Amino acid sequence: MTGESCNINDKEKSCCSTPAQEPAASLKEHWNNAYLNNAEDKLGWYEEFPQESICLVDKCNLSPDSVILNVGAGTTTLIGFLLLMGYTNIIATDISNDSLAKLKTSLGDEEDKITWIVDDLTKPVLLKNIPPVDLWIDRAVLHFFTEAGDQDTYFELLKSKVRKGGFVIFAEYNLDGATQCAGLPINRYNQEMLAEKIGNNFSLTDSFEYSYFMPSGAERPYVYTLFRKTG
Ligand SMILES: C[S@@+](CC[C@H](N)C(=O)[O-])C[C@H]1O[C@@H](n2cnc3c(N)ncnc32)[C@H](O)[C@@H]1O
Repeated sequence: MTGESCNINDKEKSCCSTPAQEPAASLKEHWNNAYLNNAEDKLGWYEEFPQESICLVDKCNLSPDSVILNVGAGTTTLIGFLLLMGYTNIIATDISNDSLAKLKTSLGDEEDKITWIVDDLTKPVLLKNIPPVDLWIDRAVLHFFTEAGDQDTYFELLKSKVRKGGFVIFAEYNLDGATQCAGLPINRYNQEMLAEKIGNNFSLTDSFEYSYFMPSGAERPYVYTLFRKTG
């Protein structure tokens, strides 16, 4: 089974090959399998040009040396575009070492311009030591955290790392979105739910709904938000 085999009408279906396989021993292995068993451009979250994220990054008016943290980066094309936009202080992190290895390879010589961190956002160790972040970018990561404790840990890290005046981009499955992805259950969001989670020290700067189409052609409705830390 590949990402292409997902059923366009079945929101319970996941978006890559992992569910048809033996259960992974750990979350890390689960995600590594997703990346090792599928070409990047067949994954159910692949974007050739991540236009919506880039639009929101643009709105932040950051200086080139701003610290940009892309959480759950996987093999995203966004990192390459951030480099093209002139950003020099990018951190890419993921629980999957294999995804980051693929992303490094795709960047060629540029890979040494990125700080690479393999860590679990729900049990962060190395991420606790990164410098203050000017922009936190999460596309399709937070919605995998269905346990309240995991969400709390994620938001504690975010709130402690994003500096005052810094920004946060979320792009998550919205309330019309699928209930599973990559064989894992999804906690779906709307703008208000994200605002409540991130708390009063952040104000909403932008928000919109966006329908992403998977390589299979299946529609996946997302909510995009941009928050700024004001308090
Ligand atoms: C659906 S993919 C999205 C990848 C990328 N953000 C993009 O837009 O192409 C979700 C990513 O989150 C990562 N991830 C899942 N759980 C994680 C965790 N607990 N800590 C860090 N990364 C995690 C996965 O390895 C995967 O790369």
